[in-house]
Amino acid sequence: MAIRPITEYPEGVLAKVGKPVTEFDEKLKELCDDMFETMYNDEGVGLAAPQIGINLRLFVMDCDGVKLVAANPEIIETSGEQSGPEGCLSLEKIPAVLPRPNFAKLRAQDLEGKWFEKEAEGYAARCFLHETDHCDGKLFIDHLPKMRREMIIKKFKKEKKLR
Ligand code: NI
Repeated sequence: MAIRPITEYPEGVLAKVGKPVTEFDEKLKELCDDMFETMYNDEGVGLAAPQIGINLRLFVMDCDGVKLVAANPEIIETSGEQSGPEGCLSLEKIPAVLPRPNFAKLRAQDLEGKWFEKEAEGYAARCFLHETDHCDGKLFIDHLPKMRREMIIKKFKKEKKLR
């Protein structure tokens, strides 16, 4: 197991649609172990492969009691609405309030390649949506109006300089 460096905005891989996961082997398990370790090390609740520079449709999460690996994730159902702060390890966790559906149903493959469906509400649903977005080359700030998006980017650049 190893902690991998986090890929940060505006690295190109974060804006790319990920390639499908096709090999459900030992290498994938090791990659997911590293992703969990990297995520916990940064006190995150979810981490997608592009965030460690790997252009794959894959994420791990441990959020609000929902711990899973999702390969080739899709959101197949959403409903309701929630509003709350959201942040991203690729943007120094700078929070922005973002409305999201309150319920989401995820369809994905596990480490063995078996398809599963999982429903979540609230924070865990937000995590499903945020991480699946990463696999589609989308960041949470892409959902924000331009002015608010630019404000987050400005804050991020400032934080980077202070580090
Ligand atoms: Ni993120």
